[in-house]
Amino acid sequence: VEVINTFTHIVGEPYVLIGSGLEDYTTDWRKRTLGKALAVVLPGNTQEVAKVVKVCIAHNIPIVPQGGNTGLVLGGIPDNSGRQLILSLKRLHHIRNIDVANACITVEAGCTLISIQVAAKKAQWFFPLSMGSEGSCTIGGNLATNAGGTQVLRYGTTRDLCLGLEIVTPQGEVLDDLSALRKDNTGYDLRHLLIGSEGTLGIITAASLKLFPLPKTKSHVWLALTDTHLVLDLLVIARQRLGTYLSAFEVMNTFSLKLVRKHYPEIAIPLLSDGKDYPWYVLLEVSDTTTITNLQPVLQAFLEDTLKDSIVSDIAIAQNLQQSQHFWKIRESIPLAQSREGLNVKHDIALPSAQIPIFVTQTDLLLSKEFRDIRIVNYGHWGDGNLHYNIQCPEGTDPKTFLAEYETNINQMVYAQVAKYRGSISAEHGIGGLKRRALQGYKSPVALAMMRTIKKALDPKNILNPGRVL
Ligand code: FAD
Ligand code: MLT
Ligand code: ZN
Repeated sequence: VEVINTFTHIVGEPYVLIGSGLEDYTTDWRKRTLGKALAVVLPGNTQEVAKVVKVCIAHNIPIVPQGGNTGLVLGGIPDNSGRQLILSLKRLHHIRNIDVANACITVEAGCTLISIQVAAKKAQWFFPLSMGSEGSCTIGGNLATNAGGTQVLRYGTTRDLCLGLEIVTPQGEVLDDLSALRKDNTGYDLRHLLIGSEGTLGIITAASLKLFPLPKTKSHVWLALTDTHLVLDLLVIARQRLGTYLSAFEVMNTFSLKLVRKHYPEIAIPLLSDGKDYPWYVLLEVSDTTTITNLQPVLQAFLEDTLKDSIVSDIAIAQNLQQSQHFWKIRESIPLAQSREGLNVKHDIALPSAQIPIFVTQTDLLLSKEFRDIRIVNYGHWGDGNLHYNIQCPEGTDPKTFLAEYETNINQMVYAQVAKYRGSISAEHGIGGLKRRALQGYKSPVALAMMRTIKKALDPKNILNPGRVL
């Protein structure tokens, strides 16, 4: 009680939540786990964050930093002990500055991704990070997980978009590294150490982010293909022919779209009808920041050749902004449809692009032999080698029972395949609490030892997000 009073004193009574009704903070987005928190504390500024951390150190209270709680690997929710404190960054939601001369925006960690996109656009600039959760995920969470999303092949991951951070250290000190210099080689790059550290090395309170010219034209096409090798061929020639115009290359198998149709029948899906569907679909986006080149003839010639060479079997072209948005809506509805279908085994893997076809063929076969009638939901950002290779239990069976019985085996089989092709067991969602054990098996022991050394040096009391990542 005494420590709760101290938190109240720092952040104000309305911003210390205890007792029941905290499920939004203590349950993960996939509804896999319900944790129990000592309290949820919502500081209003960086200084308050630092003070809360100092109190936690003094009382040995583990801290779980949390943004929008859209993470998919149990990194931002507490365990069941009732001892861990959720430190929510939600109230740090101000856009601090837009620096046109440096093409940079400085924002607080609790800003939702969409609010940053909107602020940039208002100033006639473009912030390219984009993903299905953008309405509720925060930039602090994006940075802490080094989120990817749909524009990575053109603009890079969150790491590539960050020019500086403000952080609160595990000692409760504030590090202001927001000068946003494009070049700064004064020793170890602490910013890059913090990005992707999933709340285990420091609390991100603000960030300076790169801005880009606003795309003047954008076009979207929806392509149907019969084989993964053809998808790869398409990617290669799209890269060659469309160059930097190519800004998204999203791939979906038929079953992932059938799930969307089942749970969102109001969403019409092009080139997918009863009796006529294709094994693979690609949503391809091209965009240009100048008005000088006319993208249309370039795209048209590219599409004609892919048809002529039998790489793609059918094409739907978005005729206007509404249709473009509709294509994206279909794609972004896949994880939502999956969650309506019930609990599933999620994999967020990266592979060298050239190995994707063989990986998919072999792994589909291995799994289907071992687990009869499982349903494979395979989609993702193949343009940058990232597959969401998810397994849904056989129709009519209970997802919970299926997961309890087979999840570990499925993971082992998929990760063994990933290792065989020198891929990664986490492309963009991170490790959190969910993949911590798997990490021990698939990361180099040398790398793991270095990571442990870093964690111990920066957070010797193991106060920040214990039990996550390592
Ligand atoms: P949280 O879920 O609150 O936290 C995630 C992790 O970051 C936790 O470990 C937490 O402790 C830590 N953390 C949060 N804030 C801070 C902070 N300020 N300082 C230090 N640590 C912090 N991810 C992708 O990469 N690409 C996608 O395309 C994508 N699409 C998604 C679509 C849907 C529908 C959903 C539900 C999720 C998707 N995600 C995607 C996953 C998720 O949205 C991202 O991981 C996002 O970056 C998490 O942000 P958040 O604010 O919700 O973080
Ligand atoms: C996506 O690309 O849709 C996301 O990473 C979310 C998911 O895989 O569930
Ligand atoms: Zn994704």
